[in-house]
Amino acid sequence: MKNSRLFLSLLIVSLGCIADSKNASPSLHGAGDDKTGYDTKSYTTNSKALTTRVGKEADLIAFIKQPPLGLPPTPVPSNNPITVEKIALGRKLFFDRRLSLNGTFSCAMCHVPEQGFSHNELATAVGIEGRSGRRNSPTIFNVAYAKTLFHDGRDDNLEEQIWGPLLAHNEMGNPSVANVLRKIRSLSDYHGLFESTFNKPLSMETLGMAFASYQRSLNSANSPFDQWHFGHNDTAVNASVKRGFQLFKGKANCIACHNVSKNSALFTDHKLHNTGHGYQISMHQRPKKQKILIAPGQYIEIDSDLFGSVSEKKPNDVGLYEITEDPKDRWKYKTPTLRNVALTAPYMHDGAFKTLEEVISFYNQGGVQNIDLDHLMKPLGLNSSEKTDLLAFLNSLTGSNVDELISDAFAAPVGDTQ
Ligand code: HEC
Ligand code: HEC
Repeated sequence: MKNSRLFLSLLIVSLGCIADSKNASPSLHGAGDDKTGYDTKSYTTNSKALTTRVGKEADLIAFIKQPPLGLPPTPVPSNNPITVEKIALGRKLFFDRRLSLNGTFSCAMCHVPEQGFSHNELATAVGIEGRSGRRNSPTIFNVAYAKTLFHDGRDDNLEEQIWGPLLAHNEMGNPSVANVLRKIRSLSDYHGLFESTFNKPLSMETLGMAFASYQRSLNSANSPFDQWHFGHNDTAVNASVKRGFQLFKGKANCIACHNVSKNSALFTDHKLHNTGHGYQISMHQRPKKQKILIAPGQYIEIDSDLFGSVSEKKPNDVGLYEITEDPKDRWKYKTPTLRNVALTAPYMHDGAFKTLEEVISFYNQGGVQNIDLDHLMKPLGLNSSEKTDLLAFLNSLTGSNVDELISDAFAAPVGDTQ
């Protein structure tokens, strides 16, 4: 342990030196990121441009009351009716770094608004003090409609889900519920806010209700696909997108899991499936050398046996089995929505696929064979122009209010006491 700490400090010191020596001419590649000292010179982010960062408040409650075209009515639990005040309080909390153990980490640092409310730069999430997790940060666009939460579906309720990240050692790292509540109570800018919003003081219950209300408002649709398919605007998408949707429904049968209904589409069946991806990662991919991401764009390569000494070892991931302990549930993961999928790379529960092209190739080969492979997974025999069409279709699913939601996020307070 001592040795590994020493190794890590040496590493940080030496990386600091590399960065310093190159600091003479910092290179900005967009979105304000200084890439000086990064190992990967071609490193770019998909972050939306600075123009959406002006910070303009949106009428969020309108997205719940009248969801954008393509979404069904928003389910709102009867014991937490939506109000403007709850959404505003939830948004303040979502961006507040003081809610983590050491005051550095907010929800929005993994669910980054300008990166599809997911994280484009990390395959698997990294929480406070660089503690690494084993799963990819999913988008929370349209999370109001999710009937199961987390990749393994272990939660089903936005009001309660928050205690996962708030208390996880490798996310926000708080030691207890009481500690979180005590901290918020001590912050003067929250004084009276829960009382005026809920007629009740801050508690586990009201905190969950506020967070849930903001997240429930992040409805995003009216994409080019919606305008064409549900809005009957024939020119909203091109012919390739239309052919792609035919493949999605027909030959490729993606729709069997990523469902589309008559008047709306969530692109999920809310179920968990074994596509073979988790199986492959668990059983086969144990390379001798492993690259470890220690900061965005900065990797070190080490022998796999030493992995645990520089990073917390990523425990094996067996999906739903971890919740049910039924061997049939090994490597089953939740079917994610495909709305805004062009914005939420990298893909799958562990962020293993960098691009949608890679995901399509994975499906085209029929996933990965294993004894519990979902019966819907079969080689598809798509040729290259069919793959291009399917890709065009996936790229047509970006909601028209995305920029508005990002801009709204930039109007949120970020944990200062003003
Ligand atoms: C360190 C990064 C990190 C932080 C901080 C974080 N999350 Fe997450 N979030 C994740 C990851 C990773 C998952 C998936 C975990 C899993 O499936 O086991 C996730 C899952 C979720 C989900 C489930 C989405 C779905 O469709 O299944 C919601 C909702 C969510 N987070 C909201 C929040 C909220 C609210 C906060 C702040 C209180 C927060 N997250 C903080 C990384 C993070
Ligand atoms: C058997 C059900 C099933 C079928 C059929 C299916 N999917 Fe999936 N899809 C899933 C599941 C489950 C995941 C999540 C896997 C994981 O996290 O490891 C997923 C993940 C994805 C993702 C990654 C999304 C993200 O945010 O990470 C994309 C893109 C995708 N599927 C597209 C497709 C396309 C295109 C097709 C048809 C060629 C298809 N899927 C067919 C169940 C299915």
